[in-house]
Amino acid sequence: MSDGFHARFARLLRLEGPQPVARLMAEAGAHYYATRDPFGTQGDFITAPEISQMFGELIGLWCADLWDRMGRPRPFRLIELGPGRGTLMRDALRAIGRALPVCRAAATVHLVETSPVLRQRQHEALAGTDVEWHDDLSALPPGAAVVIANEFLDALPIRQFERSAAGWHERLVAAGDDERLHFALSPPLADPAALLRRHRAAPAGTVVEWSPAREAVVEQLARHLVAEGGAALLVDYGSPHGGAGDTLQAMRGHRFASVLQDLGEADLTSHVDFEPLAAVARRAGARIAGPVGQGAFLETIGIAARADMLSRAAPDRAAAFAAQRARLTGADAMGRLFLVLGLASPAPPPLAGF
Ligand SMILES: C[S@@+](CC[C@H](N)C(=O)[O-])C[C@H]1O[C@@H](n2cnc3c(N)ncnc32)[C@H](O)[C@@H]1O
Repeated sequence: MSDGFHARFARLLRLEGPQPVARLMAEAGAHYYATRDPFGTQGDFITAPEISQMFGELIGLWCADLWDRMGRPRPFRLIELGPGRGTLMRDALRAIGRALPVCRAAATVHLVETSPVLRQRQHEALAGTDVEWHDDLSALPPGAAVVIANEFLDALPIRQFERSAAGWHERLVAAGDDERLHFALSPPLADPAALLRRHRAAPAGTVVEWSPAREAVVEQLARHLVAEGGAALLVDYGSPHGGAGDTLQAMRGHRFASVLQDLGEADLTSHVDFEPLAAVARRAGARIAGPVGQGAFLETIGIAARADMLSRAAPDRAAAFAAQRARLTGADAMGRLFLVLGLASPAPPPLAGF
């Protein structure tokens, strides 16, 4: 019998019994990110900062503008959650340094990252920059903060629930005698959470998702911003108002893969439902902006001008910059599926781009 992650997880299921989808996502995700750099053409998927330098540059300028309008606080913490290869932060810092060097000088850089492989990539991308890494948000330093996160929330675990004639069940993962896995259902829940009560009229077979892990991160972030001052930009694929449906997906080699095959070897994510996240942040005292589509956000903060400027500096690459802009902003590309949610401490100024 092989001893890869899949085989070990299948053994655990046989020993401990079926486990919630959230445990599968947490453990397979941790293994996946701890053991590889998954980005780019050789990897499993590509993200906005890897598509175009304009993404990180514009977010950097958004941060510098906000810092300026906040009254130029010092110290000022520039924090990224789940920074991948460090590309977004590298491009953002370059843009901040050129546009507003005093902002760059005031910023200390903090990365929240669990993967040792990706920490090393971030170290290389940000060579020459003082960086402090954190395992989670519990130990962020005091001081006004501007926080960015691109495709971070989608990787955090979700729970799934399924309706039957007998009520609501939690969706579980179970193992057969071989290493093959299948979905199963818990016994009917005695006290379905409030979320499920909202779907009381749902027909049998309806799947509803809920992510306490994402809510916990957003609540912690909102509390930090309310206490210390500042704002956050959360960019992810998903929907402004959830709704029902099974959105768990696996990506491997730029194609959809089976969620339960070769666990730990594919990127497991699900659509981010922004509605409960905004509600949690509001309850923690934060102001909310959006969510708006990534396309509208980037157009409002100046992607056309940036593409034009880059094209004039390198005319032979003008078509490439136009294609990158279309991919990031197009309604049939990433412009609508990806959403941007702003969180901020109660004090002004308003957030740009919404
Ligand atoms: C899809 S990648 C996004 C990378 C980057 N933001 C980008 O846009 O290219 C998800 C990132 O979140 C990190 N990550 C996943 N789960 C995490 C967790 N629980 N805590 C901290 N980082 C996590 C991964 O290691 C990776 O850096």
